[in-house]
Amino acid sequence: MRCLALLRQHLRDVNNMNGSEKPYVEDFAQALQSEIMRQVRDVYSPVVIDHWQNPRNWGIMGDADGYGKIAGPCDDTMEISIKIRDGKIVKCTWDTDGCGTTIACASIASEIAVGKTIAEARKINQQVMLEYCGGLPKENEHCALLAANTLQSAIDDYLAKAAKNNELLAQSSQN
Ligand code: FES
Repeated sequence: MRCLALLRQHLRDVNNMNGSEKPYVEDFAQALQSEIMRQVRDVYSPVVIDHWQNPRNWGIMGDADGYGKIAGPCDDTMEISIKIRDGKIVKCTWDTDGCGTTIACASIASEIAVGKTIAEARKINQQVMLEYCGGLPKENEHCALLAANTLQSAIDDYLAKAAKNNELLAQSSQN
């Protein structure tokens, strides 16, 4: 709302000026961006803003050991891929068509998952995500849930594949 008020005020200012007095559009864009960032900082923690602006581990993994894709209650989707070595997550990448908070949550989840054993990563739930995020506005808490659930789905996929491989190994050793 404040952005709209700023926009209206600025348009009034521009209309009241003439010729060389008129400020450049860039000035207005910069003022608008500053106002948006000021409002964002009022609502989101520095950690969330940092991960939103500088997302880590964004991308699709071609040779993932585990992969999960989930749609959130708002229909945004998230994909997470994991690579496992010696029982630990050594790489975690993600992709999403979701909002800035979803991007931040996926990025944070990928960072906290790497280096964890499967058992440790199993404990990454919505509450853990919210703690790492430094809290989120109520309407965005489901972004943290989506990231946690997608990570767990990737782990489920890895465990199902590992169980299948073990089964095949056991069968081949009996033959
Ligand atoms: S996942 Fe729905 S708004 Fe972020």
